[in-house]
Formats: sequence, C-alpha cells, structure tokens
Amino acid sequence: MEKRTVVIVGATGSIGLQTLDVLSKLTFFKLIGITYHSNEELAMRIAKEYKIENIVCTMNGLQKLFELFERLRPDITVVCVPGFVSLPITLKAIECCKRVLLASKEALVCGGWLVRSWVRKFNVELLPVDSEHNALFQIIEKDVEKVLITSSGGALRDWKLEDLEKATVKDVLNHPVWKMGKRITVDSATMVNKAFEVLEACELFSLQSDQVEVLIHRQGIVHAAVFLKDGTVKMHVGYPDMRIPIAFALTYPHRYYSNPTWPDLISTPLSFGPVDQRRYPCFHIVYEISKDYAKRTAYNAADEVAVNAFLNGRIKFTDICKVIIKVVEKTTGTCRDLKDLEEIDQRSRILAEEVIKCL
Ligand SMILES: NC(=O)c1ccc[n+]([C@@H]2O[C@H](COP(=O)([O-])OP(=O)(O)OC[C@H]3O[C@@H](n4cnc5c(N)ncnc54)[C@H](OP(=O)(O)O)[C@@H]3O)[C@@H](O)[C@H]2O)c1
Repeated sequence: MEKRTVVIVGATGSIGLQTLDVLSKLTFFKLIGITYHSNEELAMRIAKEYKIENIVCTMNGLQKLFELFERLRPDITVVCVPGFVSLPITLKAIECCKRVLLASKEALVCGGWLVRSWVRKFNVELLPVDSEHNALFQIIEKDVEKVLITSSGGALRDWKLEDLEKATVKDVLNHPVWKMGKRITVDSATMVNKAFEVLEACELFSLQSDQVEVLIHRQGIVHAAVFLKDGTVKMHVGYPDMRIPIAFALTYPHRYYSNPTWPDLISTPLSFGPVDQRRYPCFHIVYEISKDYAKRTAYNAADEVAVNAFLNGRIKFTDICKVIIKVVEKTTGTCRDLKDLEEIDQRSRILAEEVIKCL
C-alpha cells in the first residue's frame, strides 16, 4: 500500500508534536514537510529525527508555505497554528490537499463560510481534530435536535470570583485537564475557547448556535453528546488525550491507532453543570454574534491581542474579557471574502490596543 503523504503546519506546537508522536506509531503515512514559526531549534531537531527535507519558517509570511503546498500537493495537511493566520493557511491547504485535519478553530470562527465553500469547490475532506468536534464527528446523525460539548472550566474554575483579577499567568496556564499551547490555555480559563467551539460546531455540522449546548464537566472524559428526537442521548467518552482524535482523523474511516486505555467508569462519577456568566463574561455573547462574521473576527482578534497583553504582564486576567466585549461592540462590517476579513482583523487589533491603553 502506498503511504499517504503528510505536511504539518505548526509542527513545533502542542498539536504538532502530538501529531508527530502519532505518526511515529503508524506505518501508512510519510511525513514530507513541516512548518514552524519561531522555534527553529526544535524544528531542526524534528527535521533530523523524521528525515524531512521540506521545512518552512512562517515568520516572514505565508508565501513559502503556499509554494510548499503547490509543490508537494500532500495527501494530508494538519493545520495546527493559533489565530487568524490559520484561515488563509486552511484555504490554501484545501486547494492543494486531499484531506485537511483542522485543529485551528479560529479559521472557522472567522471565515467559516469561506472554508465550507472551499471544501465544496475543491471536493476535499475536512476533519476536525478538536476533541469535542472529533467526538461529534464520530457520533452525529442527520437529524440531531441538539449537541453538547463539554468544558473543563479552565484553570480558575474553583477560584472565588473576587480573586480572578489577581490571577497570574502561572495560575492561568495551570490547566486541570489538558496540556496545550499558551493561547488556548488562557482561552480555556475565560471560556473564549468554548465560545469558539460553539461556532466551530455550527460550521462543521450545519447547526444553529442555540443547538449547541455547553456544560462544565470536570472529569474531562465526556467530550460531546448528541440528543436525538426519540429521547436517545449518544455520548462520546475517552481519556483527554489529543493523540486519539488526531489518530482518528488521520486514519478515518479506519482505527489503526492502538491505545487500549479506557477511562475507569467505576472510579470516575460523571458530573455536568451550567456555565456561570459571572465567571465567564464573554462566553455567552457568542450566541448573540454567531451570525455576524465581522463581530466573530473582531472577537478572535481582540482575544489574540488581549491574551498576548496578559501573557506579557500588560493587563490583568479579568481585562481580557473587557477588551473583547468593547472591541466586539464597536465592530461592524461586511464580509464578502478573505480580504474583508483581513481588514476587519487588522482594524480590530488596533482597536484592542487602544482599549488596552485606556484600561
Ligand atoms: N493544544 C491542544 O490540545 C489543542 C486542542 C484543540 C485545538 N487546538 C487548536 O490548535 C491550534 C494550535 O494549538 P497548540 O496548542 O498546538 O498551539 P501552540 O502549542 O502554541 O503551537 C502553535 C504552533 O503554531 C506555530 N505558530 C505560532 N504562531 C504562528 C503564526 N503567526 N504563523 C504560523 N505559525 C505559527 C508555532 O510555531 P513556533 O512554536 O515555532 O513559534 C507552533 O508550531 C490552535 O488553534 C488551538 O486552538 C489545540
């Protein structure tokens, strides 16, 4: 059997490294290219270990990556870079590959309709890597009434509300369930990540936002559920280990990845609870802006800027949501194509910086 060729965009990150780990355990794939942004040392180590000749640094733009896609035309591309930049990367990957594994939810948050129309135009498989969406992909049926995606609640889920503004970067990066990149870990504490995932679910499974319920589930082993009209609820359960959804998306429709460790259901009683609006003030607004791509793009841009400002010690944890709410409130615009979105993204970043200065 001929091996399927793979390119990883963002190989030096958390998902990128876990994809490498999965690939090292599967025999049907040949990694032919990787990208990195700033971590050259790690990229070179990966290239040496996996004997990869095609290595692209994205620090100076995406042109070299696009040339790589055109030249290699891989069977599979894994897109796992954070932020708006994942949108143009995903669109180009769809043009040039047969299957795109999408970890970068921001591409769907900002340009979901574009991604969907590219998938149709180029007749490509788009498979979600995000654990909740990968789970939904596995259990969804045609006529679902609603779906559930779960959230751990992030690192500060048990903090007193009045203490949240004192949270340090170290506190926020101490995620109770997952080990991930910095931005998504901060986004988990604010539940911006879960807001993104509501939109991601709408785009991937043609749902309205009010069909996507989110509950806090502390044990982290139920990733998603679907509610069917005959009263059936199908849940997807498994250890929180991103290598499982990555492997499933790589090998779909087969399950070639062997990892026989299942949650112990006797010692893990399951609990579910509602999302507290006071603890996560910018989660619920996603339901109001779900049909407005300009505000969605602003939401992502403001979050990107605010999270960086928090990580660099410029603002408090609780300021992140203040910045997002202000920027989303002030952003309007028409979204016809990628150029429109890029313009809104840039404008929202400038606005977010202005809001930060006035805090
Ligand atoms: N981590 C998870 O468990 C998880 C789960 C579900 C979904 N996701 C999603 O997957 C994406 C990646 O998350 P992650 O946790 O893997 O992030 P991460 O650990 O921060 O890694 C990000 C990767 O993207 C590269 N990168 C950073 N900025 C870039 C830019 N402007 N242009 C191109 N490449 C850039 C980084 O390169 P350098 O390191 O070389 O700078 C690195 O390879 C995010 O959209 C996240 O929401 C992650």
